[in-house]
Amino acid sequence: MFTIRGGKPLRGITAVGGAKNAALPIMAAALAADSASVLHQVPDLSDVTTLSQVLMSLGMLVERRVDGTMRLEVINAQPCLADYELVRRMRASVCVLGPLLARRQRACVSLPGGCNIGHRPIDLHLKGLAALGAEITIERGYVFAQAGRLKGTDIYLGGPCGSTVTGTCNVMTAAALAQGVTVISAAACEPEVVNLGQYLNAMGAKIEGLGTPLLRIDGVDQLRGAEHTIIPDRIEAVTLIIAGAITRGRLRISGVCLEHLAGVLDVLRSIGVRIEAQGTTVAVSVPEALRPSDITALPYPGIPTDVQAQLTALLCLADGISVVTDKVFPDRFLHIPELCRMGARIRREGASGIISGVPKLSGSCVMASDLRASAALLLAGLAADGESVIRRIYHLDRGYERLERKLNMLGADISRVTDAPAHLPSSLQPSPEEMQQVNNDVCEPPPPKFLKLADVKSSTSYNILN
Ligand code: EPU
Repeated sequence: MFTIRGGKPLRGITAVGGAKNAALPIMAAALAADSASVLHQVPDLSDVTTLSQVLMSLGMLVERRVDGTMRLEVINAQPCLADYELVRRMRASVCVLGPLLARRQRACVSLPGGCNIGHRPIDLHLKGLAALGAEITIERGYVFAQAGRLKGTDIYLGGPCGSTVTGTCNVMTAAALAQGVTVISAAACEPEVVNLGQYLNAMGAKIEGLGTPLLRIDGVDQLRGAEHTIIPDRIEAVTLIIAGAITRGRLRISGVCLEHLAGVLDVLRSIGVRIEAQGTTVAVSVPEALRPSDITALPYPGIPTDVQAQLTALLCLADGISVVTDKVFPDRFLHIPELCRMGARIRREGASGIISGVPKLSGSCVMASDLRASAALLLAGLAADGESVIRRIYHLDRGYERLERKLNMLGADISRVTDAPAHLPSSLQPSPEEMQQVNNDVCEPPPPKFLKLADVKSSTSYNILN
């Protein structure tokens, strides 16, 4: 868990790492190549470790260097099973389905199971692969897929909440090795999908239309390994910007790809965060009071759902009422009750959180439910008065590379400690006197249940009392 002593404005310079959501499908796509690939700027995250284990179980040699370079080479093309024990730890393991099917003609991949950010089916992945000619069955919690050579076709990947990011990755990778032309419409346009497409093209694929909803893929017979650089993590960039803003600090953040952040920078500026860009570095400060906003998370180029929780944390401290809606994952709101424990005033209403800004948050003990919720709680803890504890931070480690180290270098006061009662800050535990007081209060006789007749006559709530 983390213990955080909040209320310290962050100052200094920091840098953004490689994007988790680009690295994962790209690592999986290396399964489709005939020779070794070398990736640069692979972030050091627990999700990357988990996927490395999945890939090793599928006959791949994975070598990682501390500088973020990763070498991936298939040394045994026989295994086709991605086991539940690994897949259940990380949904993105499903990204091996398309490459395995295209390269090894069969795949057996566990269905990932439940998820704290809402229902996450993979029907669109399966629809796309079936359209390419795969025979797919689901048995005992596993997807069994097999095919001869896949055949190019027209595929529509739109779903009730927009397109699918990893579904587009799976189908695009499989189509790269199919016979003939595939046209994917309603493809996801996220920069991470584009980065994967660029890697596949470097391997010899012929993909046009990257970054648009219409992809044209001329299938090739073979993909060779390639050298490729992972794009900067736009979600980490926004999280760091909000860390500067919520603590009313002054930060410079380097390695930011501004082009990927247009929508969210626009929103942050409208809230009152000053963001000055110079090349790939942004300077963040907050010269005035934070203003409320009405934000909707949408597929790219909209505001990413992956920053919805962090923006919610920021808007808790804005001067007025904000509305944050998530149209990508309409149930991604488990951070709300935890933020409320810190003094936030938020009401969940369907796919929205309605936030009444408060002047300050107060340090509390809270529980992280998923990756981005953990980031939101950490941000709230940085801004809160007093000490906070965030439990289950293993969620955070899935997607942020030692975030507390980066933040501590900027003046934050965060400690990573074992989750044990002895490590709970004394400020968050009632003193013996307070315990005594609470016990005494509880022992006092309860107040009278009914008002006296005289009171009832003068009361307008008579019917309610009855
Ligand atoms: N959906 C379907 N059917 C499908 C697939 C998706 O209905 O077959 C729905 C989902 O339920 C959701 C929407 O479509 O409502 C979008 O889901 P998508 O498939 O795009 O999500 P994903 O590919 O599983 C990736 C990221 C997520 C990110 C989403 C949305 C990776 C590894 N994960 O997930 O990242 O929130 O796209 O942008 O790329 C995170 O990093 O914290 C994270 C959850």
